[in-house]
This record gives sequence, C-alpha cells and structure tokens, in this order.
Amino acid sequence: MSKLKIAIQKSGRLSEKSLELLKECGIKFPNGGGKLIAESKNFPIEVLFLRDDDVTKYVEQQVADIGIIGENVYLEANLEVNVLEYLGFGGCRLSLAVSKEVDYQGIEYFEGKKIATSYPFVLEKYLKEKGVKASIEFISGSVEIAPSIGLANGVCDIVSSGSTLMSNGLKEVEKVLDSQAILISNKALDKEKQLLLEKLLFRIKSVLNAKE
Ligand code: PRP
Ligand code: ZN
Ligand code: MG
Repeated sequence: MSKLKIAIQKSGRLSEKSLELLKECGIKFPNGGGKLIAESKNFPIEVLFLRDDDVTKYVEQQVADIGIIGENVYLEANLEVNVLEYLGFGGCRLSLAVSKEVDYQGIEYFEGKKIATSYPFVLEKYLKEKGVKASIEFISGSVEIAPSIGLANGVCDIVSSGSTLMSNGLKEVEKVLDSQAILISNKALDKEKQLLLEKLLFRIKSVLNAKE
C-alpha cells in the first residue's frame, strides 16, 4: 500500500506548528529522537524533516508528495507545485529595511543602492514593478548584519516580531509581501496518493474550520 510523504521544516519557526497540525488531524508519530524520517502508526504517512529552503524543491521532484512551507520560501523557489491550503500559522512579512539613521522618504531611496537579501527573485520582481534599479547582494542568512558592516545600504528579509531588525539598528520601510505557512503538493500524484491526500485535506480543513 502506498504512503504519503510530507516534508516539513526540521528546526525553525514552522516545525512545531507543522507537527502540531498533523497531531490535531489525529495522526500519531513515535517520539523523534533526532530521526529525520518518522512514520505514523495510524495513518499511511511519513514525515521528512528538511531544511525549509529545500522543501519546495523536494516536493517538485516528488522526493516528498506534499510539504508545509512559508509562502515566502515557496514564492522565492519559483517552482511548479500546487498550493492547496493556507494554514493560518507562521505569519510574517517580507520587508525592506534600512538603518534607523536614514531619513527615508520613499522607495526612490533604493535607486542605485545595494540591498542584501536571501530573496533575490522576489525582490527583483518587486523592484521592477516599482521602477527602481538597485543591485541585489545575495546572502543566505544573518542578512540584517549587512548594513552595519558596509555590505549594503538596506536589507530585504522576513520580519515577524521585529526584534531582529531592532537589535541591528534597522527600521522597516516597505512591505514586499505578507506570508504564512501553506500546504503544497506535487503536480503529478498517482490515484492512490491523491486519495490519501484528499483524506488528509479533509481533516486539515476541519481542524482549520474549528479554529475560525
Ligand atoms: C527570520 C529572518 C530574520 C528573523 C526575523 O529568520 O531571516 O532574521 O527571522 O524574525 P523577528 O522579526 O521575529 O526577529 P529565521 O530564523 O526564521 O529563518 P532562516 O534561518 O531560515 O532564515
Ligand atoms: Zn531557512
Ligand atoms: Mg534568517
């Protein structure tokens, strides 16, 4: 019998809530102990714990059938997967920020400037829409350090509580997009997996409805 494989973030802000959602769907897992794969005893599903940045790619390549990922990460990956459901947790925004010393008047500030980000694809699209030409410096993490070490004039990164910006002397000046956790699936699931997915989706929808 076939099993559904779901990819979720190994450790980070979506991990706990992703597992919690599966539990609320009545799906039980043995306690992890650092294992990167867990198999449920009461539903034909297997959880793969991955880096969030890899979830979309693995769902597209059908290493996993479905995945839970931040919409921001999915949009940046720009891959062909189906978006099935907005999950109502992991809320954050992708924003532009500059040093709090800057007398910021508007998006024109970024013309000819350098912006550090882990979201080059989404940022480039945004700047194009706004008619601003800036150079994009890709950094894979600790983006908020860039202005203070002279690497860039501003950053484009995820803001949730705002505390990372604040402790690095930055202020949020433009919102690029809002994001939350979403459920994605591979586009070519076979009949059996499709049926399992429908069962799971039915449970997820009931859990979400009960929370409204
Ligand atoms: C994100 C983001 C910021 C931070 C913002 O990183 O890159 O650094 O959180 O959150 P705050 O506004 O609550 O301070 P995160 O650790 O979520 O993920 P990553 O390691 O995958 O970048
Ligand atoms: Zn990450
Ligand atoms: Mg980060």
